[in-house]
Amino acid sequence: MVSVHTSSSRPFHLVIFGASGFTGQFVVEEVARTASEGPRGSLKWAVAGRSRQKLEQVLEQAASVLGKPELRTEVDIIVADVEEPDSLAAMCKQAVIVLNCVGPYRFFGEPVVKACVEHGAHHLDICGEPQCSSPRVCVQFLEGMQFNYHNLAAERGVYIIGSCGFDSIPADMGVLYTREQFKGTLTALESFLTVDSGPEGGCIHDGTWQSAIYGFADSHKLQSLRRKFDYKPLPSVGTKLKRRGALFYSNEIQQYTVPFMGSDPSVVKRTQRFLVEEYQDTPVQYGAYAGVGGIGSVIKLLFAGMIFWLLVKFSFGRNLLVKHPEFFSFGLFSKAGPTRKQMESSSFRFAFYGEGYTEGLDPTQGKPNCKICTLVQGPECGYVATPIALVQAALTILNESAALPKSGGVYTPGAAFVKTTLIKRLDKHGIQFSVI
Ligand SMILES: NC(=O)c1ccc[n+]([C@@H]2O[C@H](COP(=O)([O-])OP(=O)(O)OC[C@H]3O[C@@H](n4cnc5c(N)ncnc54)[C@H](OP(=O)(O)O)[C@@H]3O)[C@@H](O)[C@H]2O)c1
Repeated sequence: MVSVHTSSSRPFHLVIFGASGFTGQFVVEEVARTASEGPRGSLKWAVAGRSRQKLEQVLEQAASVLGKPELRTEVDIIVADVEEPDSLAAMCKQAVIVLNCVGPYRFFGEPVVKACVEHGAHHLDICGEPQCSSPRVCVQFLEGMQFNYHNLAAERGVYIIGSCGFDSIPADMGVLYTREQFKGTLTALESFLTVDSGPEGGCIHDGTWQSAIYGFADSHKLQSLRRKFDYKPLPSVGTKLKRRGALFYSNEIQQYTVPFMGSDPSVVKRTQRFLVEEYQDTPVQYGAYAGVGGIGSVIKLLFAGMIFWLLVKFSFGRNLLVKHPEFFSFGLFSKAGPTRKQMESSSFRFAFYGEGYTEGLDPTQGKPNCKICTLVQGPECGYVATPIALVQAALTILNESAALPKSGGVYTPGAAFVKTTLIKRLDKHGIQFSVI
């Protein structure tokens, strides 16, 4: 059941910015569903975006999909444009939390974060903009915001929490869950993601394709940003986790597998750094992989990957990629996005394989003597699991403020929610965590 304990006098607990986008529309539905778990009107929310007409259409659609005619009249609309700072300020002043679904974040994200920090609204996004294949680089928007706004957000008591969608809540919270379940000191963990599209097939909306294109195109800039943080390397405890190859057959998931190219590895690493610095925890070494399938899928991936790498480096190539997502991704991305039927039959599964040292054994001496396997599984990644994760993260802020980090700031989900009941909340809403 939803309950809201915030004492804020702002008119809306949640404002969904970018509600008219492909993902935004499903976040609207998830907020409406979640709000109806509690007494009517206890969760106050509004939709925001640059077109009132589109926002009205989204509410109309949500009203008919959910059978809730009241959404047409009871949900407020805020018109705000990333290009107009005053409109962002007006939006942020009305919200306890802004759920920002306007991407690609590298282009549109910073003004929204800035307005939130300046006007006292917490900010959650669903950025999963990828890193390049080197595990050393960071996710530019997410870490850029940390660099630019952490101190000011801390001063103002504002929480800016990035990657609260499928990227990277299942992975980041999955690592914390596995660590919690391990009887002793967990030192190394690998995750293997598999996606089952079901009989209807599936695809990802063009918005994510564009984020990927510009993310990869800019990956060279990420190294210099990381240098500005001047991080010391994380201490590596226990046997060093070996990096797997660029393509290998995984016995764990019985299929060909590649390193996961999204934000998960760098988000998990930032969380581990926070836990070491804040609580002197033992850091967990982490490797993230994604299943590709059989040899036919590998050939397709190699072919599409080569063309992608070639084109993404040049502006005319990027234009081509942006114009023809379906063609260049072999149907994995499309301008129309997946249908509702496709989403219903799709699911994801993260299998975590960890090792460490049982209680009383010194992790700095000898080899790990204990293993663990856990699962995080749930519905379709992009437009079902992402809204669930985002909305449950928001409810956690509203209800468990005492369990968040002492001061505001820019955090990963794991850093922000490590002491909260987010995992239980996700579990209740269809993203399940278990030990096998
Ligand atoms: N983490 C995850 O797993 C996950 C899952 C899904 C999506 N995402 C990310 O979410 C983002 C959105 O994806 P999508 O597929 O929903 O994209 P989309 O359909 O293109 O939606 C983009 C939204 O941004 C709005 N927008 C664009 N420019 C704006 C401006 N100047 N001012 C205000 N609003 C503006 C658009 O408004 P209009 O409708 O008025 O054009 C639209 O609402 C992407 O970055 C994607 O990678 C992440």
